[in-house]
Amino acid sequence: MAAAAIAASLLFYHNTHSAANAESPLISTTSKPTIRLADVKAHGEDSDEKWVIKGTKVYDITDWVSAHPGGEVILRAVGGTIDKYWDIFSIHKKQDVYDILESYYIGDLDPQDLVNGQVPSDDIDDPFQSDPKRDPRLLVHSDRPCNAESPPECLDTFITPNDSFYVRNHLWVPDYTTNSPNSTAAKPSRDKYTLHIELHDGTEVDYTVEDLKRNFEPVTITATLQCSGNRRKHMSDAARPTTGLPWSIGAISTSTFTGCRLRDVLAHAGFPVDDYPEDEVKHAQFMGAEAYGASIPIEKAVAKRGDVLLVYEMGGKPLPRDHGYPLRALVPGHVAARSVKWLKSIVLSDEESSSQWQQRDYKCFGPNVGKDGVDWEGAPAIQEMPVQSAITAVKEVDASNSKDANLDGEAVQVEGYAFSGGGRKIIRVDVSADDGRTWHQAELLKNETKGYKSWAWTRWKWTVPRTVAEAGERFVVKAVDEVYNTQPERYEPQWNFRGNLTSGWHRVEYPKRRKEKGGVGGASQG
Ligand code: MTE
Repeated sequence: MAAAAIAASLLFYHNTHSAANAESPLISTTSKPTIRLADVKAHGEDSDEKWVIKGTKVYDITDWVSAHPGGEVILRAVGGTIDKYWDIFSIHKKQDVYDILESYYIGDLDPQDLVNGQVPSDDIDDPFQSDPKRDPRLLVHSDRPCNAESPPECLDTFITPNDSFYVRNHLWVPDYTTNSPNSTAAKPSRDKYTLHIELHDGTEVDYTVEDLKRNFEPVTITATLQCSGNRRKHMSDAARPTTGLPWSIGAISTSTFTGCRLRDVLAHAGFPVDDYPEDEVKHAQFMGAEAYGASIPIEKAVAKRGDVLLVYEMGGKPLPRDHGYPLRALVPGHVAARSVKWLKSIVLSDEESSSQWQQRDYKCFGPNVGKDGVDWEGAPAIQEMPVQSAITAVKEVDASNSKDANLDGEAVQVEGYAFSGGGRKIIRVDVSADDGRTWHQAELLKNETKGYKSWAWTRWKWTVPRTVAEAGERFVVKAVDEVYNTQPERYEPQWNFRGNLTSGWHRVEYPKRRKEKGGVGGASQG
């Protein structure tokens, strides 16, 4: 930091605090100048020197910005407090990171700018302040960041309406809807949006969304996105507790997605998509604007029939903000964690993404492995998902006019979804009304889909006389995909401490047998 700037910024020099904080030395113990809050604000993103506040201490992190492992996301905090970001990115809560920050300590906030010894709340940036409004029907597991599943009543159509499509955000929603010339990193403007592509040989090319729309053939595919934590609640309830959000059956939804093929864009950028050096390029790394990152194998990224898209429309409408506006990656057949939203860069590399969402969160371990001492590198990151199914509705229907000879009066219709990873088609859905003692096949409903493979779920239904439903104990479903993979009966052998890839048979009690406890959502069991 330039000496002149220090002189201009610092009003008095005195030691304001004496106690040391056990977690980090955020309270000054050395003689440093006091700094006015207004001066910190003047050292924001547009300033040559970038300052942040942690607690009541001020740091000049100018030299750190380019070395920050999380990239430019740190710019969101400059000119203000960093505490909220520190909490969100809990990876910071380590002594070596505190030590790095401490080396940039330049002074303490002037007490006259503090309220009860703290930065006034109006001056604390709320990263979630410009998150979009959401449909009240979504079942919210966490608000900030937003994690909300589609409720059962919104899971009963083949295409999930945009408003009730499940939302899985790890951080805030970047706002590219404004054209404000004064937009900051906290509120990036539409003008600022470009997709940056970096090839293995160092070639760098930028595209705006308009470039992508103008220069590449638009392609529409129908795809199901499923979070690796879908149905985690069933595993936790039926086996043992797991870490992570307690998703029930709704961390999955289906839509049509329109965009251009990643393969076409990479070829345009100069990448030899059919003849690339395989030892130099193994992964396509995606980075989102808010710092989320993930990668997929390069074979999938450039596969002629892989249908990996750079998406700008969903359900025939502009991509909603929660789902990645203005651009997201869509990697059909893979766990939705790889379909990076607010896509800012694509890097072709011999390495996977170094993000925690590639290296840690989305992996599975044996039922004997707990979260302590786990060998993260020993397990591959989840890509394609196993076969899955769930019951989404149990309805009373009138079957007096049914062509089915077994049905002549009051009946119960059970409905749901079945889905498998890798574009593997669902060939059969087995259903039972007596908790798996006897089995039948559900009717697989035909739906028009677009894309080279079975990227979307199959809807199914099964109707039984009401007497059968009443006599049986629980409805059960399990699906079979085209390579004859099927779901395990129990959850315990599949248990993993992260609760990923839960796919035990889904069991639901007939609500009439347990009226007091409510409908399918409440009655859903492992
Ligand atoms: N991309 C970004 N940039 N940030 C995120 O938090 N979440 C991932 C993926 N892409 C995420 C992201 C995860 S874990 C899932 S399950 C899907 O987005 C959810 O997509 P949706 O919110 O559109 O349903």
